[in-house]
Amino acid sequence: MTVTNSTIETQLNHRSVRQFTDEPVSEEIMETLFDVARHTASTVFFQMFSIIRVKDPEIREVIHQATGQPYVGGDKGELLIFVVDLHRNAQIRAEAGIDNEPLDWVSLAGFGLYDTLLAAQNLVVAAESLGLGTVYLGSIGGNRLGIAEALKLPKHTFPVLGMLVGHPANVPPLKPRLPLEVLVGTDSYPEADNYHEALADYDDEVRHYYDVRTPEHPEPAFTTQIEKKIGAGGIQLEPLLAHLQAQGLALRDCDR
Ligand SMILES: Cc1cc2nc3c(=O)[nH]c(=O)nc-3n(C[C@H](O)[C@H](O)[C@H](O)COP(=O)(O)O)c2cc1C
Repeated sequence: MTVTNSTIETQLNHRSVRQFTDEPVSEEIMETLFDVARHTASTVFFQMFSIIRVKDPEIREVIHQATGQPYVGGDKGELLIFVVDLHRNAQIRAEAGIDNEPLDWVSLAGFGLYDTLLAAQNLVVAAESLGLGTVYLGSIGGNRLGIAEALKLPKHTFPVLGMLVGHPANVPPLKPRLPLEVLVGTDSYPEADNYHEALADYDDEVRHYYDVRTPEHPEPAFTTQIEKKIGAGGIQLEPLLAHLQAQGLALRDCDR
C-alpha cells in the first residue's frame, strides 16, 4: 500500500526529457525554480552552490561540445550549470582577514557537493510539477575545466552538473527502477543471495522498456548493462579528483 498526493505523483512520474519545444520557459517560472533551489536544505547552513544560467550561444556551444550530446546544442530548453561554490565563503572570510585553509579540505568540498546536488534535484521536482521536462548533464565532465574557463568560474568553484529545462516535445516512457527489496534494508544491508536471480523480473522490465523506447537500438538487461558498461569509457574516465584540485578544492583531508 502506498499513499499519494500531487507532489508524489510528480515524483513517481519522473522521466528525463531530452527534446524540447521552441516555447521559452517564462521568466516567472525560472525565478520560481531558482527560488525553490535556494530554499533547499544546506550543509551546516554554508549554502555552497551557485547556478549559472547559460544564455550566450558561444558559451552554450562550448558546453554542447563538452557533452557531445546533440540536444545540448542550439537554443531549445534553458541550460543551467550547477556549481559547487566555496568561493563566496572564501571571499567573506578573506574580507574579514580570516585564513581560508579549511577550504582545502575534502570534507568542505563534499559539503559543497551535497548542497549543489540537493538544490539541483529540488529544482527538478519543481520544474516537473509545472509540467516542464528536465535532464541532468553529467556529460559536462567531458570538458569541465573548459566550461569553468568559459564561465569565468573563480578558484574554489566546480561545475558539477549541467541541466536542460524546457517544455517537453515528447514524453518518454517511464524507466523502471530496481525493486525496493534490493534498495531498502531494515537495520541491515538489503543483500540478495543472488542478484541475477533477484533481478530476473526487473531485467525483463528493462528489456521491455528499451524495446518500446528505441526498438532500433535494443539495450540489454540491467544486470548486463552493469557488467558491460561500468568502467567502459565516457565521463567515467574523467580525472575527477584532479579537476576538483585544479579548481582549488579537495586538496587534502583535515589533519587537525
Ligand atoms: C548525475 C546525473 C547525470 C546525468 N547525465 C546525463 C547526461 O549527461 N546526458 C543524458 O542524456 N542523461 C543524463 N542523465 C539522465 C540519466 O540517464 C537518467 O536519469 C537515467 O537513465 C534514468 O532515466 P529517467 O531519468 O528517464 O528515469 C543523468 C542523470 C544523473 C542523475
